[in-house]
Amino acid sequence: MKQKKQIFISIVFIGILLICHNLVIGQDSLDITHGPYLLEPGENSITVVWFTSKKCVSWVEYGTGENLQSFPTYGSVVQTAVSSRHGLIDAYTNAHKIRIDGLESGQKYRYRLFSKEIVQFKPYEVTFGGSIASGVYQFETLDTKKAAFSFGVVTDIHGSSARLDTLLQTFSWNGIDMMFYAGDCLDWFEDEKQIFEGFLDVSVDRFAKEIPLIYVRGNHETRGNFARNLMDYFPHSSGRFYYSFDHGPVHFIILDSGEDKPDSHAVYAGLVDFDRYRDEQAAWLKEDIQSESFKKALYKVVFSHMPPDEDSRGYGEQYLGKVWTPILNEADIDLLLCGHKHRFSRIEPIEGKNKYPILILGRDMIIKADVSQERISGVITRSNGDVLDRFSILPKNK
Ligand SMILES: [Fe+2]
Repeated sequence: MKQKKQIFISIVFIGILLICHNLVIGQDSLDITHGPYLLEPGENSITVVWFTSKKCVSWVEYGTGENLQSFPTYGSVVQTAVSSRHGLIDAYTNAHKIRIDGLESGQKYRYRLFSKEIVQFKPYEVTFGGSIASGVYQFETLDTKKAAFSFGVVTDIHGSSARLDTLLQTFSWNGIDMMFYAGDCLDWFEDEKQIFEGFLDVSVDRFAKEIPLIYVRGNHETRGNFARNLMDYFPHSSGRFYYSFDHGPVHFIILDSGEDKPDSHAVYAGLVDFDRYRDEQAAWLKEDIQSESFKKALYKVVFSHMPPDEDSRGYGEQYLGKVWTPILNEADIDLLLCGHKHRFSRIEPIEGKNKYPILILGRDMIIKADVSQERISGVITRSNGDVLDRFSILPKNK
């Protein structure tokens, strides 16, 4: 009888301990819930983004050399990057976005994430909880002197992560330095779950921990009450969705083509301002094509989700055809890559219209483009592995 009583007391005691533990520590563990994924690669910088199950302060440890494989006993060569603004290190947040600066161009780095829970965040009284560390991953900085590299392109995923995964699974990643998502990753945007479940988690699993994702905004991502938060997940140091960058012999220009209907259309409820935004980009584009990096690049490759086309029945494409096409013609670009149509088409230069070839990529297909000093060779492959088309761009000034 006495033994049964002791067992009962022990069970009650353990139960009380467990309840206290859950009250103090919380029931959920500290986990990396999404990411990491790499954004905005540069010659001297790159952005790493990840999310945690609890509010944390975070940092990235990074460095070069094989000794980084033996994290955490790597020695003294490892550097630490945090994100701070206005003198405050980003803290007490589930979203961690860290821009690593001061890197060498064309250099391979290894990196690892750390997040430490902040249990209590009061003035002069901060209580930390447990910490979590990721595995060791690697990235490579861009290099305008790199003679050859490859890039990939997919578009119009529309939240179908399974279809995206099929494409990414069979893709040949050898030599790929960056992957472009050419817009409409989602149908619309109402909460962050759509981003993760719709395309991002799959992308992290397949490549984005080590190969940067270049996000081209499509018209569908501008829809829904969370559309104004997209930059929180795909931050760019310019604060814009349109910008340019250089890698190897290519000057890449990323444009944001806006919505497909007139701003005054009833479906937008008076809440969009895309004509002015497209004009703003036209002004920026005129400046960019005068830049040294544009002029000295062997190839100029432009991305726009919607294809500019003055003869289109779509309002947005028409507008772009009027304001962007003359500038792209004047710039004598080598290739315009688009999506939006869901069907593949290849438009050769047309006298009096586009002086450059346009590739409109469809759904369930992927481009692998190999860039060298001699040419850009591309192959467009369907999900089932069938080759749909090939293209070759020769440098104009050779
Ligand atoms: Fe679209």
